Parts: sequence; C-alpha cells; structure tokens
Amino acid sequence: MSKIKKCLFPAAGYGTRFLPATKAIPKEMLPVLTKPLLQYGVEEAIKAGLNTIAIVTGHGKRSIEDHFDISYELEHQIKGTSKESYLTEIRSVINACTFSYTRQVEMKGLGHAILTGETLIGDEAFAVVLADDLCDNDGDGVLSQMVELYEKYQCCIVAVEEISPEHSNKYGVIAGDTINDSTYAKDSLVRVNDMVEKPEPQDAPSNLAIIGRYILTPDIFDVLRETKPGKGGEIQITDALLEMAKIGKVIAYKFNGTRFDCGNVDGFVEATNYFYKKRK
Ligand code: G1P
Repeated sequence: MSKIKKCLFPAAGYGTRFLPATKAIPKEMLPVLTKPLLQYGVEEAIKAGLNTIAIVTGHGKRSIEDHFDISYELEHQIKGTSKESYLTEIRSVINACTFSYTRQVEMKGLGHAILTGETLIGDEAFAVVLADDLCDNDGDGVLSQMVELYEKYQCCIVAVEEISPEHSNKYGVIAGDTINDSTYAKDSLVRVNDMVEKPEPQDAPSNLAIIGRYILTPDIFDVLRETKPGKGGEIQITDALLEMAKIGKVIAYKFNGTRFDCGNVDGFVEATNYFYKKRK
C-alpha cells in the first residue's frame, strides 16, 4: 500500500463574495492575520506528511506562485535585520514542499477543477483542500486524521460536520450508516450511501455537511469524466462521489477540530478573531 503524498488545492474561483478585495488578488491569498488562507492549508498538508503540493489556478492567480517561491530582492533587503524572522514560516514551507501548477481555463465547477488537477496527481490517492475552509486543532490536524483513516479503510473520505438545517443549501450533504470502529468516537464514521449538493432544508438527507477536506482515490477521475453538470450547471465532486458511494467506497468522518468558513465575510472575521486571540 502506498502512502498519500499529494495534496491538491483547487484555487481557480473568482471569489466574488469578497469583491472588490478579490478583483486583483486571489481569494486564497486573503490573509487571516499575516498569513494567506492558502498557506494555512499547505501547512496543514505538510503536518499530515503531504509534501507534494498541486495547485489548480486560473486567470489572475499568479501571486500564488510568487508566494511559494523565494523573493531574492526581499531576502536581500531584510537579511541581517530584525525583520528577517517574518519570513521564517514561509521559508520552511517552501523548503518542505514541491509545488506544481496547472490552470483551469473554464470555470465549470469543483469537480471539473479536480479533474483538471489529474495531470499533477496521476494514478495515486490524494487529498483535496479547499483553502477557504480554514481548520485548526491543538492535536492532529484534520488532514492528518483523514490520512490515518485512509490507511485503515483505503477508500474516499469526506470530512463532515453537523450544521443547522437552514444552512444545508451551502454544502454537500451526506447520509449513510454508522460504522462501528472502537478506535474512533461513537458515530464519527459513516459509510455514505447518499449525498446531495446544496439541497434545500426540506430535501437534505441529514444535517451532516461536507467541509473542504477530501481524500480521493484516483478512480474518481474516470467518474468525473462521465459526470454531467449538476447543481448550478457545474460539474460537482459531490455527484461523482455519489457514484463511488453507491459501491460503498466513501466514508464520511466527523473530524476533531474547529473549522471556519472563510468563503464568507462572517466566517472570515470569526477566523481572524480566533487566530488573533490565540496568538496573543
Ligand atoms: C464546495 C462543495 C460542497 C462543500 C463545500 C465545502 O462548495 O461543492 O459540496 O460542502 O465546498 O466548503 P463551495 O463552497 O465551493 O460552493
């Protein structure tokens, strides 16, 4: 059995909810305190042992590549000054990983973005992180927990959390049967048998919503190639995963940790306050 090494970050979206801030800056580069959202995601991947970082970018996203690269001019300017320490974290991220990029030229949905990343992933299991879901833990990060679970179950895994019913139309929502596994907290593992992208509350199969952390096996690419546009006319990863769920190959995992929805202003402000207090 080979270990998961690669982590895919779909980062091609327009970030319309943060206009005008995202007019010339990718939403993944918006900072919570002094660190861009994407860097938090990459650090979580590194902690989970995933050092091969694959990023699906798009038009106007070049600052992402510059961020994960050495700026010799900047290094030269601040070398030997008290400001050098500000670069310590990003330097260690750059040293720990390899980064590769591909561009999604048409915005056809998250499923399509993941399929675009196939060229960087190849024929192996991989993780997917949506950087606007910012997660934090004192113990193992969410991805570390999921990688460990994958090593045991060898199938697709989605991270889920309980939501209040009125929010179901913002998420992929799952349903299934509890897996009894004494290593895990009661009810934290579900063998998925249904999943719906952004259902209205009356149509939601449960209150368990997918958050932006996935482990996918490479057969997902073949399924995605056949997946027709779904909700919003986009190719949805939720629809592709439903096909895998029908043959028992998807587990939903109620993770340990805190998650902020930084894809909207309220969640972003909450995350900022949380990390500010934590830093103090
Ligand atoms: C995407 C997925 C959705 C998932 C969510 C998690 O939606 O399509 O199933 O629940 O991420 O953040 P988006 O937030 O891109 O609209």
